[in-house]
Amino acid sequence: MTRKVGIIGVGMTDFGEFWEKSYRDLIREAGVEAINDAKIEGEKIDALYVGSMSPGILIGQEHIGALVADTAGLHGIEATRVESACASGGVALRGAWMSVKAGVNDLVIAGGVEKMTDSSVGAATIALGGAADQEWEVFHGATFPALYALMARRHMLEYGTTEEQMAMVAVKNHHNGSLNPHAQFPFEVTLEQVMKSSPVADPLKLLDCSPITDGAAVVILASEEKAKELGVEPIWITGSGQSNDFLALHDRASLSETKAAVEAAKKAYKMAGVKPSDIEFAEVHDCFTIAEIMAIEALGFCKKGEGGKFTQDGETSLTGSKPVNTSGGLKSKGHPVGATGIAQAIEAVLQLRGKAGKRQIKDAKVGLTHNVGGSGASCTVHIFERDAK
Ligand code: COA
Repeated sequence: MTRKVGIIGVGMTDFGEFWEKSYRDLIREAGVEAINDAKIEGEKIDALYVGSMSPGILIGQEHIGALVADTAGLHGIEATRVESACASGGVALRGAWMSVKAGVNDLVIAGGVEKMTDSSVGAATIALGGAADQEWEVFHGATFPALYALMARRHMLEYGTTEEQMAMVAVKNHHNGSLNPHAQFPFEVTLEQVMKSSPVADPLKLLDCSPITDGAAVVILASEEKAKELGVEPIWITGSGQSNDFLALHDRASLSETKAAVEAAKKAYKMAGVKPSDIEFAEVHDCFTIAEIMAIEALGFCKKGEGGKFTQDGETSLTGSKPVNTSGGLKSKGHPVGATGIAQAIEAVLQLRGKAGKRQIKDAKVGLTHNVGGSGASCTVHIFERDAK
């Protein structure tokens, strides 16, 4: 495992509600930007991996690998759709990374795309519900907000986490999102606004939830040799981990811990040879505010049960000791489910290139992304470094 692999190009659409843009338009726009960023127009691309969760239900389109390759004018290459619910993008990134790491390919596209707002919120909720256990959870009325509400209640009971501490995640992420030109909801919110927003699934309120979003994101991966040949400087992926857990919440050992994330992080840290304390910033899967609190605990940024306090103390803010979701996260930037894992990687690349604009972390060298499927039954963690050995 000595071959170095890095990201040499990134591109993403704005995230939001785009009636005037099709699924194809979105992935094309992000792909063209990534290819221009990497300056590889005309180069032979070996393969394409694209994360997309529910295009069949949301827009009636399947066979996504072939569709995206066709849209990109890439014929005669391997083109694969990857599905792991909301972690589809992160798992696509890992698939692309593995194919270069293994020496099978040298120049690979990893993308993610979802078109969610052409359906009603009800239809999108049903599509998202496919990531839970249909027979034991969804059939009985559980939606994703409801499942995360159960986890929030358990965390509150075991550790004294408060609704205010969860609301602070939203306040922080909306602040960061207000500095991100791609964000769906680039406005600030106050603690009071979050606390007074409409109940969705008690204790979660509207402003504790990530939205329904259209969007696409693309990165280009290259081997060290290929990057040298192209004369480009990659941001290296030095660690990649993936793990799973029981699909249904009731089967898990704990409702207040995402075990798949703990295990994926352990693998990624080991591969990269780094510790949680070495990570300077992270993009984590804040599909609901409680999810960010559980994520920072699973990643070892603070002790189990102390995620609420860590947030309240400002440690995860842009100027804190461990900035989390500098992009605005899923909460403010938006959550086009299949694209999310790739968009997280883009934020890591921008931060490490020193190109994150007003939300830039000073002299960032090591960052991490954490992308969760469903209520935590799958998870990928990636570690990115500017100056890898
Ligand atoms: N954050 C901030 N504002 C939001 C928002 C969010 N998550 N979702 C909607 N809004 C805003 C809308 O822009 C709209 O504002 P307006 O009245 O000024 O135009 C208003 O709130 C109502 O929007 P609407 O689309 O009617 O909301 P809704 O009640 O139908 O849906 C949720 C809101 C939270 C139920 C929906 O976004 C949702 O299901 N989110 C969770 C998605 C999810 O489960 N993802 C997978 C995670 S694993």
